Amino acid sequence: MDHFTYKNGELYAEDVPLSAIAETVGTPFYCYSTATLERHYKVFSGAFDGANALVCYALKANSNQAVIRTLAKLGSGADVVSEGELRRAIEAGVPPEKIVFSGVGKKPEEMRYALEAGIHQFNVESEPEVRTLSEVASSMGVMAPITFRVNPDVDAKTHAKISTGKAENKFGVPWQDVSRIYAETAALPGIAIKGVDVHIGSQLTDLEPYKNAFNRVRDLVQQLRGEGHDITRVDLGGGLGIPYDSTIPPAPTAYAAVALEAIGNLGCQIIFEPGRLIVGNAGVLVSEVIYVKQATQRKFIILDAAMNDLIRPAMYDGYHQIDPIREDQKQGKYSPADVVGPVCETGDTFARERDMPELARGDLVAFRSAGAYGAVMASTYNTRPLVPEVLVKGDQYAVIRARPSLEELLKLDILPQWLEG
Ligand code: LLP
Repeated sequence: MDHFTYKNGELYAEDVPLSAIAETVGTPFYCYSTATLERHYKVFSGAFDGANALVCYALKANSNQAVIRTLAKLGSGADVVSEGELRRAIEAGVPPEKIVFSGVGKKPEEMRYALEAGIHQFNVESEPEVRTLSEVASSMGVMAPITFRVNPDVDAKTHAKISTGKAENKFGVPWQDVSRIYAETAALPGIAIKGVDVHIGSQLTDLEPYKNAFNRVRDLVQQLRGEGHDITRVDLGGGLGIPYDSTIPPAPTAYAAVALEAIGNLGCQIIFEPGRLIVGNAGVLVSEVIYVKQATQRKFIILDAAMNDLIRPAMYDGYHQIDPIREDQKQGKYSPADVVGPVCETGDTFARERDMPELARGDLVAFRSAGAYGAVMASTYNTRPLVPEVLVKGDQYAVIRARPSLEELLKLDILPQWLEG
């Protein structure tokens, strides 16, 4: 459920017409709804009421500090994957003791920063990483709390580019080595083993892979305890899908039931790292039709948004519903068209032969479910400035990241002295 609805003949974000934002901010722009963000956070965390659970919002999905602060105010922690994200989380008001640090390539200076901040835990992904962390922590005279991310070798049945829990993926430590790695790590200075971590992929729409992975983790926790390790935390990662098309993913309560059945009675703190589920449907990308072009075989609707602004269709064949802002168009006649951006690549296509309403130059459309992995993955390809972001709350809205000017963009390049003049 989200708070983007048609009222007074046009699409609103909560109580603000998107056309009004377009008029002041220009297009394209991302727009997020506070009520939707809050609702999704509460639905997810509410599914674990009474359990010893910590929800660490995965910043990579949308790391605007206004979004993070909205969630932090509800008590959310953060899952970060770089010093940059860690700084954002802290700036936005997430207490360090609710922050977990994931990722396969943490650098020593990033580890140092996180240790100084006093984060909850490092989710370590390899033996060389834990040795480096041991050196950094020892040199600072502190203990680094860790879990190992284990690779359960299960098929998450999602897009290959966002599946992470198979043995062939780069993530986590191999299942058959876990026992030895925990034993060797227990002897390392500066490392405090706290638990086990798993994350099998993103946009999962089936609970079966979770069930398999979580049951394997439960058995592993019992085994590791038997081997003398004090396992008090289990991090189950993120990945629960959202509805983009007609596929309806499991409800958070059903997911919670699977998690709690497997892990609930181990006496551990259970950590979750949802990203998309919290922010995905809380955002739209609004764009203007530049031209409608009738070619020999197809009709093309050419927008002012492009693959550099929203890469999901080009990169993962991601489906985003594209709605006209005007309700009469939404309810009018439809015919097939390709919806494309201005970037000079055939891949800059948002939809192929999709039934689209009758649109003309100057009309506005909204890409739904664009709050996750939208703005954060944008680039300036084709020297297109990053798209601004707007946050709505009731009848108010604010620009939470401004559109950079072309002057600012051009100034980023530096001419060497031999080319000057
Ligand atoms: N935890 C870890 C360790 C992760 O790698 C991820 C996502 C998450 C949590 C959050 O997953 P979520 O709940 O958002 O599914 N750009 C792709 C998705 C990449 C996901 C990367 N890792 C897309 O647009 O579909």
